[in-house]
Amino acid sequence: ASYDMGGHDTYMHKEISEQPDAVDRVLRGRIDDRFSTVHLGGLNLDAREARTIRRIKILGCGTSYHAGMIGASLIEGMARIPADAEPASEFRYRNPVVDPDTLYIAVSQSGETYDVLAAVQELKRKGARVLGVVNVVGSAIAREADGGVYVHAGPEVCVVSTKCFTNTVVAFALLALHLGRIRDLSVTDGKRIIEGLRKLPEQISEILKLEDEIKELAAEYAGAQSMMFIGRVRGYPVALEASLKLKEISYIHAEAYPASELKHGPLALIEPALPTVAIVPDDDLLEKNRAALEEIKARSGRILAVAHQEQEKADHTIVVPKNEDELDPILMGIPLQLFAYHTALAMGRDIDKPRNLAKSVTVE
Ligand code: G6P
Repeated sequence: ASYDMGGHDTYMHKEISEQPDAVDRVLRGRIDDRFSTVHLGGLNLDAREARTIRRIKILGCGTSYHAGMIGASLIEGMARIPADAEPASEFRYRNPVVDPDTLYIAVSQSGETYDVLAAVQELKRKGARVLGVVNVVGSAIAREADGGVYVHAGPEVCVVSTKCFTNTVVAFALLALHLGRIRDLSVTDGKRIIEGLRKLPEQISEILKLEDEIKELAAEYAGAQSMMFIGRVRGYPVALEASLKLKEISYIHAEAYPASELKHGPLALIEPALPTVAIVPDDDLLEKNRAALEEIKARSGRILAVAHQEQEKADHTIVVPKNEDELDPILMGIPLQLFAYHTALAMGRDIDKPRNLAKSVTVE
């Protein structure tokens, strides 16, 4: 990569820092206050067609797959269309039933990932309608798709994705709002989501100010052999992505589990040497999440919480600003990007170019 690092030591740090501007860009020109909805010019899907969708299947790889998981929950929550995400390659090789009432969405930063492209081509051959949620304009996946939403994160150089992940999730929030307002989402809820979206850039800036605190924490955890990440429902993909980020750049083994599954197995691993990072939003699941923290504490596990208020059972809480419940996952992952970054830095890793990984995998 040849473009300027703008005073940052790594592209990853630069790209994390760019997120308030990047999110501003994905929102710009798209909000329609009059109808409490958003305009997505490239969607190529009119209201009548949008009403006939019975199911949404989102396909991607790596970080884009995780963004798609959050996307699915945003769409299901706001538009009440059953939606789920699946790794593109898994989808392709299980000979899936391609249903005419299903809308397929391919997610890719580069727009060139072979597994995603091949899934799109197979779907199109079978007559399916495929949209793209893509960062690179004019890329192969963007060209193959019937339409889509550009993510507008700007160029991302670091092998691991940060700002593009965040912008992809925001793009899904826009799509969910758009579909929701064509179907059953009320004007009031539309307004509420729009207000939440507008707060994001400022709230991300607030979170980035926590860097010194997060750096100190990272120094404490840098020696860990392994780490557990937990979250529930909306928090689970946040945990998955945070654990992926940590393993990609620090090479610390990390697992992510739904907090509700702890008691069905992983609780056996909990002991002082296995720290847990817990996503604990202030929503209707707060008490359930607190109960999970208690179970971990009872086994002398160390806990780092990302939450909207101090968690009594946690050894440390990173307190982040609250947004609307639906949009909280966008914010809660950001401190954990910095956590992975500073952990890897403390361990002397090559952050922008982790071993064995490539920015885009254009072969099978
Ligand atoms: C590679 C990268 C990951 C990325 C994935 C999907 O494996 O190392 O960081 O998430 O590809 O890339 P895409 O460009 O399709 O989002």
